[in-house]
Amino acid sequence: METLKRTKIKDLLLAAPGTEVLAKGWVRTKRGNKQVKFIALNDGSTINNIQVVASAENFDEELFKRITTGASLAVRGELVASVGSGQAVEIQASEIEVLGECDPMRFPLQKKDTTLEYLRSVAHMRLRTNTFGAVLRIRNAMAFAIHKFFNEKGFVYLHTPLITESDAEGAGDMFQVTTMNLKQVPLDKKGNVDFSKDFFGKKTSLTVSGQLEGELGATALGEIYTFGPTFRAENSNTPRHLAEFWMIEPEMAFYDINDNMALAEEFVKYLVQYALDNCMDDLRFLNDKYDGELIERMQSVLGIAFEKVTYTRAVEILEEAIANGVQFEYPVHWGTDFQSEHERYLVEKYFRKPVILIDFPKDIKAFYMKQNEDGRTVRGMDVLFPKIGEIIGGSEREASLEKLEKRIEELGMSRKNLEWYIDTRRYGTVPHSGFGLGFERLLLFVTGMANIRDVIPFPRTPKNAEF
Ligand code: 4AD
Ligand code: MG
Repeated sequence: METLKRTKIKDLLLAAPGTEVLAKGWVRTKRGNKQVKFIALNDGSTINNIQVVASAENFDEELFKRITTGASLAVRGELVASVGSGQAVEIQASEIEVLGECDPMRFPLQKKDTTLEYLRSVAHMRLRTNTFGAVLRIRNAMAFAIHKFFNEKGFVYLHTPLITESDAEGAGDMFQVTTMNLKQVPLDKKGNVDFSKDFFGKKTSLTVSGQLEGELGATALGEIYTFGPTFRAENSNTPRHLAEFWMIEPEMAFYDINDNMALAEEFVKYLVQYALDNCMDDLRFLNDKYDGELIERMQSVLGIAFEKVTYTRAVEILEEAIANGVQFEYPVHWGTDFQSEHERYLVEKYFRKPVILIDFPKDIKAFYMKQNEDGRTVRGMDVLFPKIGEIIGGSEREASLEKLEKRIEELGMSRKNLEWYIDTRRYGTVPHSGFGLGFERLLLFVTGMANIRDVIPFPRTPKNAEF
């Protein structure tokens, strides 16, 4: 059998009948009668299965018994035009080898009620389902499209560190990294933990954002982007938060907030279009199984300009809504951070299109955002999407050394750890801007999945770091 080269099922399904082929994959289903069996084989290259037709004349019953859902096979035979509907071609098997058996009692994949929640506890089976096959192929396509988009624009892919001493977002929800013996932590004379004895000689954590390092890249190379894992120890068990997620952070010298918004809009539209152009089989499957409006919703964000609205105006809109009887779980007034229910009201009910919120109160945003003339707002921007809420957060950066230093002081942040960053404002400072796209938030939008745990192969959330 091995003299023939294996063809992926994705390619077999498009090939012309009449050739001898070798397919390998896992059994999805087996049906048939005494004379003939039909085996649906899948190898992960596509959501679609190839049908293998095996006549009882050529194979003994013992072999058929070993061909159960989940078993892995190598199948040799002729690719022929299919008489059944649903597929153009099928394999008329001449040889079948069972590569690995799969105990049907211990592999409950065929059970109709296998929930997404249950699947999260069975790692090997989860990835073999149609659902995760589709999600992970789309995830792969989106990762590729992100690099393609920036590469075509001449951005430099910059690798920023995962271990850092700075809390870029100032939210304090970092995972500490240490090699100290936790049973015998070294203390200094005052009784505080002596981090000079730790591996890096200082207190370090996993990064919450590559932005600060990204700004050094942008103010040297012009336009950069990062794309890597990000860690946040926020104890929020929501369908939109992960403790380990991936973020794409472009950072551009000489961009003001308007340039930044234009890039963000072009970027997400490009990605949605790329998914529609390249992942239609998987999208159709997810659309039919989970979210009947998925494809329509994706198309709906493409043809229109995103709505730009200030935070202050958005508060007025929400207050009017409340006055008219709309109920929210969390209160809204000028100075509060919006919850996803507020964001979704603006997007889904009020504007009925993606919204870019700008000019936030400075007290709810990070220290690095450019301060507006009014003294109380900053030039931040959040891109809000239907069904998700915030998908992108970004800003023009404070380019003035004086204003930046003053803000760091006001917030009581440690200057010592930030001198390397402040230097960018000392030596040839320039207007610059950037944003962060949450990769899994994007994937929620382009897969229609309801829970962020189901768009990443191995989710990390509070009390859950299995596999
Ligand atoms: O709004 P955030 O916190 O912004 C930053 O980190 C900036 N440094 C970005 C920048 O300007 N370079 O996070 C950016 C995006 C959010 O809009 C959201 O999509 C996603 O990251 N995000 C999360 N995704 C999943 N789980 C979490 N816990 C997330 N926290 C943020
Ligand atoms: Mg944000």
